[in-house]
Amino acid sequence: MKPRVYITRRIPEEALKIIAGRCDYRMWDSEDERVPRDVLESEVGQVDGLYTLLTERVDPDLLNRAPGLKVVANMAVGYDNVDVEECSRRGVVVTNTPGVLTETTADLAFALMMAAARRVPEAERFLRGGKWKTWSPMLLTGVDVFGATLGLIGLGRIGQAVAKRAKGFSMPVLYSGRSRRPDLEDALGVEWRGLDDLLRESDFVSIHVPLTETTRGMIGSREIALMKPTAVLVNTSRGPVVREPDLYEALREKRIFAAGLDVFETEPLPSDSPFLGLPNVVLLPHIGSASVATRTKMAVMAARNLVQVLSGQRPDNPVNHIM
Ligand code: NDP
Ligand code: DGY
Repeated sequence: MKPRVYITRRIPEEALKIIAGRCDYRMWDSEDERVPRDVLESEVGQVDGLYTLLTERVDPDLLNRAPGLKVVANMAVGYDNVDVEECSRRGVVVTNTPGVLTETTADLAFALMMAAARRVPEAERFLRGGKWKTWSPMLLTGVDVFGATLGLIGLGRIGQAVAKRAKGFSMPVLYSGRSRRPDLEDALGVEWRGLDDLLRESDFVSIHVPLTETTRGMIGSREIALMKPTAVLVNTSRGPVVREPDLYEALREKRIFAAGLDVFETEPLPSDSPFLGLPNVVLLPHIGSASVATRTKMAVMAARNLVQVLSGQRPDNPVNHIM
């Protein structure tokens, strides 16, 4: 009998073929609507493998309903939506999609830096709103990116890719993280700082850490108060790394120049979010890895990981190491 799999969203054909060739699958066949929790809870009762997106919480309650589960293949590099410890305890392999999305996400972090610094969405709204009457010396002026100091919180795959881009803009690059990386300091020309010094010295601060119990809320009012009034904060990691009410207050009172956010504490961003009323924040709907090529690679990678585990092989991208 073929292994049984549940896929929590419609995925690209290329990825689906990999699963269909080896497994009996059922799928929540929607592009843009997440699987209702009660449907997911009932589907997992019968499955050996679960193909998830970051929108699904794989918690003890769901795992209790999935006695036959052997693998959770997450179509994302971040896996804070999966209780990995609990999966390991139950012998469930967890996999993710590192690497294939690094450059695409770094592109978006840079796009957010530039958009927030140069007020690109605000300027476009201004034009479309029919407000452009004449060229004026100080109309919609922002802050410069070229030559400014960039502070990276987290110098992992994506942080490094952002550092490489910054070199093309003649930006001195500082980084902070759990561990100092002298090898990368030489290779990338980046300098280590403790978090507080990085926040004090940087013109742009870009966050590239995973969401863990240690990083949750790591940027709040104390940290924002250390930043320059002309600084820009960019977050493409996970929303809860930044304390949103603290950032909102800082932006409202213009204690920093602007922010660019791809990720939020609650996603989708609630329609009554106070951020929506601020001109000095660029808001994107979690599209860091959203190029056709990259999303297809992520989907295929997750499918391969899933099939590998269900065929008794070690997966290419395990998060827990229990096989
Ligand atoms: P990596 O694991 O390569 O890098 C993460 C970095 O964060 C590492 O340098 C790590 O240090 C560091 N880090 C971990 N914990 C801490 C901590 N407590 N304090 C300081 N630094 C810490 O991951 P990626 O670069 O591939 O991805 C980073 C995150 O970006 C993902 O986890 C995901 O949440 C998010 N992401 C968002 C996307 C989007 O669409 N917006 C797209 C892709 C990723 P060490 O090496 O010591 O562990
Ligand atoms: C990830 O992979 O962690 C992103 O958030 C989605 O690409």
